[in-house]
Parts: sequence; C-alpha cells; structure tokens
Amino acid sequence: MVCLGNICRSPLAEGIVRHLAADAQLDWKVASAGTGNWHVGQPADKRSIAVARSYGYDISKQRAKHFNAAMFEDFDHILVMDKNNLRDVLKLAKNDEQRKKVRLFLTGETDVTDPYFDDQLFDPVFQTIEQRAKKLVEELRAK
Ligand code: 4NP
Repeated sequence: MVCLGNICRSPLAEGIVRHLAADAQLDWKVASAGTGNWHVGQPADKRSIAVARSYGYDISKQRAKHFNAAMFEDFDHILVMDKNNLRDVLKLAKNDEQRKKVRLFLTGETDVTDPYFDDQLFDPVFQTIEQRAKKLVEELRAK
C-alpha cells in the first residue's frame, strides 16, 4: 500500500487489509510505504490513528517507510493511492513483471483523496479505503 507521505492513506490501507486478511485466516504479508521520505520512522498521522481506532482498527504501531525498488521483489501486489504515486512507483520499476504488480487501490482510475490538509476528510477517506479493502481481499484471495 503506497501513498505520498505514508502517514495518512496507506497506513489505513495497510492496517485494514492486514486486519481483514487475518480475520479470513490468510497468511499475507501486508505493508505500506511512501514515495516521499519526510516521515520515515514516524507513526501515522494522529487523525488516521484516531479514525481507524473509531472503527475498531489499531494502526498505532505502524511506522512510515520510504518506498524502494526492493519492494517490487518482496510483494506480489503494489496498490497505490493516487496517480502521482502510480507515476513515482512506476519510475522505479525495472521490467514489465515489476510494472504489472502496480495498480491503483481504487477501481475506475479513481484517486484516494489526500486528507492531509483537511481534518474533515479523514472519515470519508477511511470509509472509502475500508470499503475497497473488503473487495480487494475477496478478489486477491480468489487468485
Ligand atoms: P499521505 O498524506 O500521502 O496520505 O500520507 C500526506 C502526508 C504528508 C504529506 C503529504 C501527504 N506531506 O507533504 O508531508
């Protein structure tokens, strides 16, 4: 799960997908990272931690990481939150096999809105991510 800062959107996606996968007894490795490195080592944004907690998910122990090329080898699927993330991640891909792993988290070319500058966006962004995460887990477990 990849976004820009790895403190707002992708930590939510990571925590939710990990939780849903564990509930479904799926032994998946789930992680998140940012295309930017400003927040490396930091916990998620307080607003993401709070909205996740309000819906029963604990993302407080996750720490921000910087997306790097080794992650193409470590993961089967790389889900990015918006088209800028898509461009930045694809720049680091070395071949078609790596490029094929990368896609937008949402369907229909839709971006997950960056909530960083608007407190009011955290709840709808959470709901969008959770709704899609449920479908994604169903989709990927069927593969
Ligand atoms: P995220 O949100 O990409 O969903 O983690 C952002 C967090 C921090 C910044 C930008 C977006 N920033 O510029 O520091």
